[in-house]
Amino acid sequence: MKSVSDLGDLRGKRVLIRCDFNVPLDGDTITDDGRIRAALPTLTFLKDAGAKVVIMAHLGRPKGQVNPAYSLAPAATRLGELIGADVHLAGDVVGESAQATVAALADGEIAMLENVRYEPAEESKVDAEREELAAKYAGLADVFVSDGFGVVHRKQASVYDVAKLLPNAAGFLVAKEVEVLKKLTESPASPYVVVLGGAKVADKLAVIDNLLKVADTLIIGGGMAYTFLKAKGYEVGTSLLDAEKVETCAGYLEQAQAAGKQILLPVDTRVVEVLDFPNRSASEVTVVDSDRIPADQQGADIGPKTESLFAGAIAGAATVFWNGPMGVAEIPSLASGTEAVAKALAETSGFTVVGGGDSAAAVRNLGFADDAFGHISTGGGASLEYLEGKVLPGLAVLEGE
Ligand code: 3PG
Ligand code: MG
Repeated sequence: MKSVSDLGDLRGKRVLIRCDFNVPLDGDTITDDGRIRAALPTLTFLKDAGAKVVIMAHLGRPKGQVNPAYSLAPAATRLGELIGADVHLAGDVVGESAQATVAALADGEIAMLENVRYEPAEESKVDAEREELAAKYAGLADVFVSDGFGVVHRKQASVYDVAKLLPNAAGFLVAKEVEVLKKLTESPASPYVVVLGGAKVADKLAVIDNLLKVADTLIIGGGMAYTFLKAKGYEVGTSLLDAEKVETCAGYLEQAQAAGKQILLPVDTRVVEVLDFPNRSASEVTVVDSDRIPADQQGADIGPKTESLFAGAIAGAATVFWNGPMGVAEIPSLASGTEAVAKALAETSGFTVVGGGDSAAAVRNLGFADDAFGHISTGGGASLEYLEGKVLPGLAVLEGE
């Protein structure tokens, strides 16, 4: 992978850069701008080098339709504030507005194309369709820089195909993310503790499979824990449950035991009768042991005994990777478990990595400083797929495949 600093004199060159500005929004207010901040080193470097910077990014999943609710306008405004310069947002992706916006750039100025996912071909499974769109992107620039780490696991036109059409390089963010994740896969200092949370167990099975080989302890919380509790034979009330995966989870529990690895599950659980996520509210929270979840209640956070159990394992770790909240962290009465895990990571002397947009947003919104952790990854799916040992198309293409 070539680095953006190996691209030579960039003055006056049009540099097309893929960023991941898929930030959480409340209306048009950005609730966590971590992904925009993470792009600043490369963007500032390009700007100071006198390049004409053209940013490509996506927001949400507009599925090939132009939809103002998914406009990159909030990201363009926020980037402008952070970098201290105008960010000229085009009215379209590769149309007349994009071309005029790029043509009008002076050296060191910044343009942003509209949400690349307004274009149906961006995410097409048909190579030729993506390639045709990628050629239009490439027509706007002289060089391509890949710095949207959160999206390098996607084989999409602005991530993958365009890199084949222009001289390319990795930005500083992609380089840093890869360096950290490489360390976690190749030579993690032991004990290596992995904390997994979040709602969907199905998304995490492949990574569990791989992590059982390298990690010493696997801690499982969040919505995905209930499928594991069910696999232990517990009733889980109305908690999230992936009935089809119960057997797979039971298999992992056996496999771990046979291999002398530890899988820690919640020993107690904060349960509620009603959870209204869209309105960020829940009924009264009670704590029960994990084998005593009432039939009409759902687990929505780990309990206090579990917080101590997990924190103890994290305190003794030399390496910790964490992906996914322990409970419904957006609701204050259900944020305690996530906060406890964040605190344990912040306090351990081991090397800590927080992976994923949701976990990163959760720790920042709970008031933790970025430098309380060894590394906060901007990629959720991307970092998990890296740890699964998968080939990430957006990285492979930079290595010339
Ligand atoms: C993310 O938020 O995980 C990345 O931006 C990728 O988005 P996607 O899952 O919609 O492809
Ligand atoms: Mg995501």
